Amino acid sequence: MATDEKTSKEQNGSISSVLTEKRKFPPLAEFSKNAHISSMEEYEKLYAAAAADPDKYWGDLAEKFHWFKKWDTVLEWNAPYAKWFSGGKTNICYNAVDVHANSWRKNKAAIIWEGEEGHQRVITYGELHRQVSKFANVLKIAGIRPGDRVAIYMGMVPELIIAVLACARVGAVHNVIFAGFSAHAISERVNDSRAKMVICADGTRRRGSSINLKNIVDEAIITTPSVRSVIVLKVTGETVHMHDGMDHWWHDLMGLAMDECDPAELEAEHPLFVLYTSGSTGKPKGILHTTAGYMVHAANSFKYVFDIKDEDIYFCTADVGWITGHTYMAYGPLLNGATILMYEGAPNYPQWDRFWDIINRHKVTILYTAPTAIRAFIRAGNEWVTKHNLNSLRLLGTVGEPINPEAWMWYHRVVGQERCPIVDTWWQTETGGIMVSPLPGATPTKPGTATRPLPGIMVDVVRKNGEPCEANEGGYLVIKKPWPSMLRTIYGDNERYEKTYWSEFKEMYFTGDGARKDEDGYIWIMGRVDDVVNVSGHRLGTSEVESALVSYEAVAEAAVVSRPDDIKGNALVAFVTLKDEYVGDMNLREALRNHVAKEIGPIAKPDEIRWAKGLPKTRSGKIMRRLLRELATSNEVKGDVTTLEDFGVLENLRDQEDD
Ligand code: WTA
Repeated sequence: MATDEKTSKEQNGSISSVLTEKRKFPPLAEFSKNAHISSMEEYEKLYAAAAADPDKYWGDLAEKFHWFKKWDTVLEWNAPYAKWFSGGKTNICYNAVDVHANSWRKNKAAIIWEGEEGHQRVITYGELHRQVSKFANVLKIAGIRPGDRVAIYMGMVPELIIAVLACARVGAVHNVIFAGFSAHAISERVNDSRAKMVICADGTRRRGSSINLKNIVDEAIITTPSVRSVIVLKVTGETVHMHDGMDHWWHDLMGLAMDECDPAELEAEHPLFVLYTSGSTGKPKGILHTTAGYMVHAANSFKYVFDIKDEDIYFCTADVGWITGHTYMAYGPLLNGATILMYEGAPNYPQWDRFWDIINRHKVTILYTAPTAIRAFIRAGNEWVTKHNLNSLRLLGTVGEPINPEAWMWYHRVVGQERCPIVDTWWQTETGGIMVSPLPGATPTKPGTATRPLPGIMVDVVRKNGEPCEANEGGYLVIKKPWPSMLRTIYGDNERYEKTYWSEFKEMYFTGDGARKDEDGYIWIMGRVDDVVNVSGHRLGTSEVESALVSYEAVAEAAVVSRPDDIKGNALVAFVTLKDEYVGDMNLREALRNHVAKEIGPIAKPDEIRWAKGLPKTRSGKIMRRLLRELATSNEVKGDVTTLEDFGVLENLRDQEDD
């Protein structure tokens, strides 16, 4: 366990200040009246029933989907490997698109898209069906077969969702790579998943300028032997180089393709996607999700947590390159026949009121965003929000990191006008869908807690030895029973899967988060206990940033830690020792920051770089990150330093004036 006693005491310390948080907000009667789950009694009943007979609970939910062949068993659990709905055959694309295109929803908007420059597109379920079927045929013609991996690297345009769904339709495994990642990060992911194809855009718009994505892909695929073809969607009209035989324009291929394509009848456990996420050591982990179990929980959790109704316009601000975009921008809403609002660009373009302007113009009813965005809006000033009419909003959500009570209160008052429930949703790339969250018509909320687990989800907070903690005792957040949308493994690495998630506690899934449960059974997340940090709602392994730093010529050794930051949640501080012949100065700082941006992406750029003559280590040579964290946060070290090998090194690491 990476956390030592001091750290957990610190975490308890920071928690006890939150303990003073006693405000409680029961749902308004007006909201509960029409909600899918309208009281705590109803929730408790469902929770108890699901706990008593999980197979029945999940099996009943699965009945609601279209199956080409019904399953034989709900769950085969051969710890830590799960098979859900074995024997069944289905297709998630069919359930997300065809089911609605064949119903009265045919002409209902599936996606309302707004470009950064203000362009609008509306894609109905009927049209989505046509586009997805056509693109599925394109994939087939290009030789993509069930089980083949396809990497997707595009900005936030509807074709990103179309590409994802088309993969699912033919049984290809999509691997969406966030369009902020570098060439190096792409090739690492493409190689690990041995993707056969890359689907990209020529470019993407960001804050009024554009980024040439195709050039980045060109650089990436020099080192990816598995890639046979690249399909390029024209978005920005950048100049791109199309390589004969390898590169094809999306519109050319779509022009040739038929608009009917039978969905593949896939085994319930057929792999659906791989999504890479940071781990505490080594390279990113390819989290593998499969078809039917993911479908059941994505759809059901979306329905109940967002209390979705056919009239809703649901705006999720996450990028499809992250799990939130997969589950609650694409699959969850579409499986429910909902209308998604998809916005291409930055929240502060052209000004800080872009989201509020969108909400007003499109009459958005549900907003799902991240605490980091909320904190940035607070800083920008209330007037950006209040000048717009937000009366259409009825429900607000957050995800990605703990929301501090003050930000929660601001969201509640200024955006929600004290009328909208807030669902603070805790989950992970690995869990596939929401695990802990209020049900908006039932659960009284408290600012800063994701409240109670969803029915069927057995989370607990335990001590190091696996015993449950007492109320309000800080511990480790675990999940005690398999759930349908759980990751099945780390792509190509069962050993790492077992070690990362299943070795810390016996027969329990370890989330990597610290938490406490209060006297009402509400879960308060205390953040990561490993070397993964959450910057602006994105998980970064500090070890990856360290590897990027060390790959720079001048660097001998690097340690990266986080310190709290008002806006981003956490800021990254890098302690760097240079090789003898180099001198640390401002230019080198900038060069290093740019190097990290190139290796991983701009989100991973250290906010601060401190030069170090040496790093504090234990006698066994482990870097004492705890001390570095203290230094980065408070500029002094109060904790226990008895295991430190060389006291002198600490002196050099305090705050440094820019040189
Ligand atoms: C953190 C994002 C507190 C947590 C869906 C988790 C949260 C990690 C919350 C997963 C929340 C996510 N409150 N912390 N509501 N939601 N986290 O894989 O540390 O990008 O383990 O999935 O984000 O991040 P990931």
